[in-house]
Amino acid sequence: MKVTIVGAGNVGASCADVISYRGIASEVVLLDIKEGFAEGKAMDIMQCATTTGFNTQVSGVTNDYSKTVNSDVVVITSGIPRKPGMTREELIGINAGIVKSVAENILKFSPNTIIVVVSNPMDTMTYLTLKATGLPKNRIIGMGGALDSSRFKYYLSKALNKPANDVQGMVIGGHGDTTMIPLTRLASYNGAPVANYLSQEELDKVAADTMVGGATLTGLLGTSAWYAPGASVAYLVDSILNNQNKMIACSVLLEGEYGQSDICLGVPCIIGKNGVEEIVDIKLNDAEKATFAKSADAVRAMNGDLKAVLA
Ligand code: NAI
Ligand code: 2OP
Repeated sequence: MKVTIVGAGNVGASCADVISYRGIASEVVLLDIKEGFAEGKAMDIMQCATTTGFNTQVSGVTNDYSKTVNSDVVVITSGIPRKPGMTREELIGINAGIVKSVAENILKFSPNTIIVVVSNPMDTMTYLTLKATGLPKNRIIGMGGALDSSRFKYYLSKALNKPANDVQGMVIGGHGDTTMIPLTRLASYNGAPVANYLSQEELDKVAADTMVGGATLTGLLGTSAWYAPGASVAYLVDSILNNQNKMIACSVLLEGEYGQSDICLGVPCIIGKNGVEEIVDIKLNDAEKATFAKSADAVRAMNGDLKAVLA
């Protein structure tokens, strides 16, 4: 199985690293526009093969899409971060141009691929990819909920003082500080509601910490995070390539599900060999439904900034 990762920066290279050492794919191609950069990252990862013991073949190319031919999955991490003085619209305009041209180039060589969108603002870039390519909705998946859910479980485990792998929980809605929805009501400690162990005040703090989880790391690191984002993409790619049918919160096109249409937003999805196999209705209560509608309004407003790119 072959995976291409466009953008060999922090998230792209970290994802390639996890895919390789966990043997998720037989071949990984890293592609970047920076001359020699993807080649260097691929060589560095390949020099782990004998010490971590993997057989995945990782190669790097500078903007040569012919090397990506017949990829089963393509991950798009290319884009620029917001710079001082740049408006959100300008950032969306630049990243949208990059994501759109990358998707078009990819499809010339891998017309049947499944595309995983990571570049920010992710829900809007996922919607753009869907509109610009016209691909069936099951083949365009935005990654954000997997990461936000892993951060939610991290903060829950800290509050509970229990191992993170004994905690279950999910974050839906937009992948943004004010749009994501950590579902505290449904979170559990090995099946028992976390509300049995944590006060409302503690649960509210867990939710608040989760929502600014990305911003907290950006403040500490000076740039956005990459280990958990890279691992989250690899987790998603694993479920596709190995047809694991895991339930993962992903940004996908909604056509009436959760009361929304013509928008890509994070909802629980079954992810398998066809990409999005199913959107799961987890029965939100009225308050959660209202929060989801608010999140949709905010993401829809941002999608409005795509008009020029989609014209
Ligand atoms: P980075 O700056 O380290 O890497 C981006 C790479 O994209 C650079 O190496 C750059 O040369 C490359 N690039 C730019 N234009 C390109 C093009 N046209 N073709 C090919 N490559 C191109 O950034 P990082 O930290 O890897 O983040 C990448 C993106 O992922 C950002 O938009 C970031 O905000 C987003 N992100 C999303 C997350 C999510 O959960 N959805 C989590 C973390 C980051
Ligand atoms: C993150 O959540 C910024 O999307 C990036 O770390």
